[in-house]
Amino acid sequence: MEQKILDIKNNALSEIEKAASIKDLEEVKNKYLSRSSELNNMKKSLKDLDPQMRPKIGALTNEVSKFLEEQLQVKYDEFYKIELNQKLQSEKIDVTLDGTYNPIGRVHPLTQTQNEIVEIFEHLGFSLIENQYSPEVEVEKYNFDLLNVPKEHPARDVQDTYYTHLAPNVILRSQTSNAQVRQMQNSRPPIKIISPGRVYRNESVSARKNNLFHQIEGLYVDKDVNFGHLKGVLNEFIRLYFGSARPTRFRNSFFPFTEPSAEIDVQCIMCQGKGCSVCSGSGWLEILGSGMVDPNVLSAVGIDPDVYSGFAFGMGIERLAMLKYAIDDIRLFFNNDERFLKQF
Ligand code: DAH
Repeated sequence: MEQKILDIKNNALSEIEKAASIKDLEEVKNKYLSRSSELNNMKKSLKDLDPQMRPKIGALTNEVSKFLEEQLQVKYDEFYKIELNQKLQSEKIDVTLDGTYNPIGRVHPLTQTQNEIVEIFEHLGFSLIENQYSPEVEVEKYNFDLLNVPKEHPARDVQDTYYTHLAPNVILRSQTSNAQVRQMQNSRPPIKIISPGRVYRNESVSARKNNLFHQIEGLYVDKDVNFGHLKGVLNEFIRLYFGSARPTRFRNSFFPFTEPSAEIDVQCIMCQGKGCSVCSGSGWLEILGSGMVDPNVLSAVGIDPDVYSGFAFGMGIERLAMLKYAIDDIRLFFNNDERFLKQF
């Protein structure tokens, strides 16, 4: 019996000696010291031994277990240090290396400009209308008919409308003015809204023109709205957008849906009115179209023109951004060149 225990001890010791990793040590421990190990079975069967032998054998098994545990621990500590060092070496981080460059996106200059314009009109009491009243794929009725543009009227050609194959009367809207009509059909005065969005025109692309661009439409209909209100609101818009009161000029114009109509010019931002290449020598820059809503337009949507009146306006967002930031080519907004976009 004694010899057997000593054999176990020696075998275990030589296996501990041979172990090459913490994992090996765990296997040795399991084999010699677990509940089902030979040594433990001996402890359990002490009661079957000759009572005279029991204390001696009992003490010897305990002693051997304890000794093996100690030996395992010593070896374990050694391996732990080695493995930790290896890990520290292999997982070492060089904090002086360059980091990865994660570019942060930014809001597109056109969106920034649109947000700025929207904010100014909200400040002046206008509500932002979302897209449900101004679809980009539109029927002629809302882009032209209800805006007092008769069939065969040259104005339909003036805006070089894109027709689709969906149906003969389905077009890509050429102006955000469709939003006015849809809004008036769906609500009653007082109406005071702005509606931004994309518009399409079949133009040859150049530094000044793109076949897709953005407009903001505005409409104010109530009792007793007059041209003075139009002037007041749009002058205030210009003051807030360009940062100071700039000389403006209301020029007589024509739009089928307004009467009278006016185009508004601001004094040239580049030359302060002296005349330069940006303003073609005139000292003025056109920034928007506007006018008093034509009584025919009100009647067509069931608003009584004898009771209500209104003004409307429409402006190109690209144009306003180009003037404010002195950008000389509209195509820059659509090329997605980071060198351009990063400046905003
Ligand atoms: N829709 C016009 C255009 O695209 C701009 C415009 C002019 C809008 C006068 C209006 C307006 O609402 O009253 O050229």
